[in-house]
Parts: sequence; structure tokens; C-alpha cells
Amino acid sequence: MKDNILITGGAGYIGSKLSYDLTDEGFNVVVVDNLSTGSKKLINPKVKFIKANILDEKKIFSVIKKYKTKTIFHLAASLDVNESMIDPIKYYLNNVVGTESLIKDASKANLINKVIFSSTCAVYGDVEKKFVNETQECSPVSHYGKSKFLSEILLKNYSKKYNFSVAILRYFNVIGADKSLRSGIINESNQLVKKLNRNAIKKDYEIDIYGNDYNTKDGTCIRDYIDVNDLSNIHIDVMKNLKKNQRVILNCGYKNGYSVNDIVDNFEKCINHKIKRNIKKRRLGDIESIVSNNIKLTKFIRKQYRGDLINSLINSIKWEKKIKKGSKLK
Ligand SMILES: NC(=O)c1ccc[n+]([C@@H]2O[C@H](COP(=O)([O-])OP(=O)(O)OC[C@H]3O[C@@H](n4cnc5c(N)ncnc54)[C@H](O)[C@@H]3O)[C@@H](O)[C@H]2O)c1
Repeated sequence: MKDNILITGGAGYIGSKLSYDLTDEGFNVVVVDNLSTGSKKLINPKVKFIKANILDEKKIFSVIKKYKTKTIFHLAASLDVNESMIDPIKYYLNNVVGTESLIKDASKANLINKVIFSSTCAVYGDVEKKFVNETQECSPVSHYGKSKFLSEILLKNYSKKYNFSVAILRYFNVIGADKSLRSGIINESNQLVKKLNRNAIKKDYEIDIYGNDYNTKDGTCIRDYIDVNDLSNIHIDVMKNLKKNQRVILNCGYKNGYSVNDIVDNFEKCINHKIKRNIKKRRLGDIESIVSNNIKLTKFIRKQYRGDLINSLINSIKWEKKIKKGSKLK
């Protein structure tokens, strides 16, 4: 019999997409979200939604107990790298203490089989290697990255002590929208593609670029951009392949790096309009270049996702048009 599933952060960008894919497959899904950055508009009507904070231990324990959600996808977090440098405590509280609060009582009561945790490539910090693999020593630069790394350690230790399995998914940069346009980014995210869309829809064909003096091919930062549809499928593949009491860390990216300028160039092609690039100072906490080695993931799920940048950008534009109906974006 299929476990019932809890998604924390299921009213957010990635969690809502995952909830749709899970209910499409017939799973019973419960979503816990405090709507701090999430939105009611993203909540899948087929899930049981509970507005709650993961820091509320008692409430969370009662939800896990009542709905018997033995599998947990833990996505709820604060995730703005730059904000984490200004307000670190917010990040340690929400991300690290929040993770412990979520699993503490339920693991002791033997109510958890699997936790699939949303981590980030920000745990690696500045890396020398062209492609980073999971054995790379972690040396996070931002407080966001540090808070996720501490959460990983906490989960590993709890899972060993209380015998449940854990998959730590280190996402690279997530882009795009649900291919059926049921979910996408809705909040004031600082994500590059979101900002390009938000500006273009206002016919404001400009973008701020933070630093063009990095040691990269064109001076701008390089990232590995993964489509949210693939990332969501990866979660489900990982859940299905994760064995009892197994612990695994997996990079989620395509082993393909794009600079900020590459993304802007491709976005220009999609909207058929030039974008003015305003070069600003480097931001605190930003890493020069980070691209995944994804061999471990491919072996684990016995599948390879390759992505298609233009397709992801087009989906994100369609989504932006959907949420800002009546706009003049081409
Ligand atoms: N978006 C990316 O590129 C990216 C990259 C790496 C990792 N991640 C990770 O993926 C996860 C989801 O990110 P997202 O892009 O969907 O962000 P999001 O802000 O859209 O979603 C986060 C959700 O968590 C909820 N939440 C936050 N704190 C909570 C709390 N204390 N209690 C209950 N709910 C809470 C928010 O309301 C929101 O709905 C995060 O853990 C993030 O660190 C995202």
C-alpha cells in the first residue's frame, strides 16, 4: 500500500508542483505551509491543506499522527541567499530548528519511513572543480547554505538513531513552470528568470547583473539550471528507489553550466526583444561558478534528465502571462 505523503512548503513554487505530480499518480497528499512565501493560489485542490508553521512541534506531530504520512518531502524553508547575510538568525531558526521540530517527535514515535529533503548546491560554497560531486567537502559561504548543511547533518543523525531513510537532494538553480501551467513562481522571488519575466511583462526591458568581473568565460556567475518539471519527477523517482533505512545525497542538476549573460541572451531570443544589462556590484554570498556532476543521481534513479533551457524559459514566460493576464508581453 502507498504511504500517505506530507509535503512541507507545498504552497510554494517547487512544493506545489510536486504535489500535482504526486496526486496525478494517485498518492494521498497532505500539505503543511505557513504561507510566508507561498500562496493559496498554488495549492493543489486535491491535497489536504493545513496552514501551520513547521516550528509548531505539537501541531506538526498531530498532523503526521492523524494522517499517517510516513513519507515526508521537506521543502519548507527560507531561501534568499542575500537576505540570509542580513538576517542569519531567521535562517537558522526556520531552516535548522524548523527541520528538527518537524521530525523530532514523529521519529521518536516511529511514525516516519522516509524523508526527502530539499537541500541546495549552496552547501558546497566556492568550488574549484568544473563539476561538483557529492563527495566534495562542504564549505557553505552564505548563512542560507550553512543552515541547509546543518539541516542535512541533523536529518542524517536522526535517521540513523530512529531508523528511517533519508534522501538529501541538493538542487542547483530551479527554473520554469509546471508544463500544464498549474504552478510556477508567484512571489517576489529574486530568481534571475523570474526577474526577467517580471520586468518584461511591464515592458521594462532591463536587468541588474551583480558582477561581471568573476573569473568565468564572460565575467558573470555560472549556474546549472534545472527545470522544475524534471526536478519534481526526480523527487518521485527518488522516493520510489529509496530503500529501507538508506541514506543518500544526490545532486540535482544537468551537468550543464550557463552564465547570467547566457540566460539573458536566451531570454531575449524567447521574447524577441533586447534587454539592457545594468552591471552592479557583486552581492554578498554569491558563488562564482557551480555546476553539478549528476552521475550519482542518474545511477540511483536509472534515468537521465537532460533539460531544455529554451523550453523552460518559454514555460516561465507562459506562466507569467497567466498570472498577469492582459499583459502585452510578446
Ligand atoms: N528555488 C530554487 O532554485 C531552489 C534551489 C535550491 C534549493 N531550494 C529549496 O527548495 C525548497 C522550496 O523552495 P521554493 O523555490 O519552492 O521556495 P518557496 O518560497 O516558493 O517555497 C517555500 C514554501 O515553504 C513555506 N514555508 C517557509 N517557512 C515555513 C515554515 N516555518 N512553516 C511552514 N511553511 C513554511 C513557504 O510559505 C513556501 O510556501 C526550499 O527548501 C529551498 O531551500 C530551492
